[in-house]
Amino acid sequence: MTDSAAKPELWKNWAEAQRYWSGLQPVAERLDAAVKSGDRTQIAQALGATSKACGSCHEDFRVKKN
Ligand code: HEC
Repeated sequence: MTDSAAKPELWKNWAEAQRYWSGLQPVAERLDAAVKSGDRTQIAQALGATSKACGSCHEDFRVKKN
């Protein structure tokens, strides 16, 4: 897996990574509900929460490219 951008820490801290994954579900559900409601404020907030949930794992476990 030489082309992987995952840090070796990911495999060592698997339990922590799984916590990040399970944390995605509620924010994804909120985003889904917001989109269905069509409320722009709710969508913007849910998007922010989603990108934070995604980004905090990338911060810890994904090798930065720049
Ligand atoms: C459990 C940790 C984790 C979570 C949560 C997570 N990611 Fe990632 N993500 C990674 C890792 C690690 C990589 C690098 C994988 C590789 O290239 O081998 C990655 C790579 C990516 C990439 C590839 C592009 C790039 O810049 O390398 C995209 C796009 C991406 N993630 C989007 C998301 C989105 C959107 C979410 C939220 C819905 C999310 N990820 C949630 C760990 C996570």
